Amino acid sequence: MRLLVLCQFPLHSNLLHTRFDCLIDSYIENKVGLAENFLNEPLAAHLKENLITLYSGQHLLPAGIGNNTLLVHDNLIRSDKIFWLDPRHNDPHENAFFELIDHFIRYLNSTCYTGITGYEFHYTLYEKGAFYKKHFDQFRNNKSRAFSMIMYLNTGWQEADGGELCIYHSDHSQTIAPRNGKCVFFKSSELEHEVLQTHQPRLSITGWLKSG
Ligand code: OGA
Ligand code: MN
Repeated sequence: MRLLVLCQFPLHSNLLHTRFDCLIDSYIENKVGLAENFLNEPLAAHLKENLITLYSGQHLLPAGIGNNTLLVHDNLIRSDKIFWLDPRHNDPHENAFFELIDHFIRYLNSTCYTGITGYEFHYTLYEKGAFYKKHFDQFRNNKSRAFSMIMYLNTGWQEADGGELCIYHSDHSQTIAPRNGKCVFFKSSELEHEVLQTHQPRLSITGWLKSG
């Protein structure tokens, strides 16, 4: 049995493992891991700046549904726009992000025997009015997505801004506001979820830890 730790810690704490424990312990407790300030403020700000630059340069693409072999764009289901992070961009902030994820995966694999062997992450932008209807994150023809991980890049988010992530458990639902630096972590095959309509541009990094 893992020890539970408090989920609040100093913003500039270097105690990476505290951040990781917070996410993992809350995942074990509630099927949904939550860590405030998983991304520190400077990293969140840099990634947000990257995302805004990509958006202004019209590099974001409408997100599809399904994987490469079965990709459809249906803006009745989802209307977010994405751009994949890639080490080949040689962007210092993307690289810092990948370093953080590499650390997290090593920690997760060594403490929970999860056997994660890879990952993929994209920048995501929901324009005003955008949403993503109820869905699972695992594809029918490819089960490699083991865990979903979303990190938000929205400073000053207000309740009236909408855009909550709504997660459906068997006997209740859980709504999560997309506040800056927060990370959400859950098993991709297990929990149906949706992004409620946003009333402000809603920015995040979204990805999946993969196995097999
Ligand atoms: C997704 C997703 C949730 C969120 O991109 O698959 O469910 O809060 N995102 O952005
Ligand atoms: Mn999803």
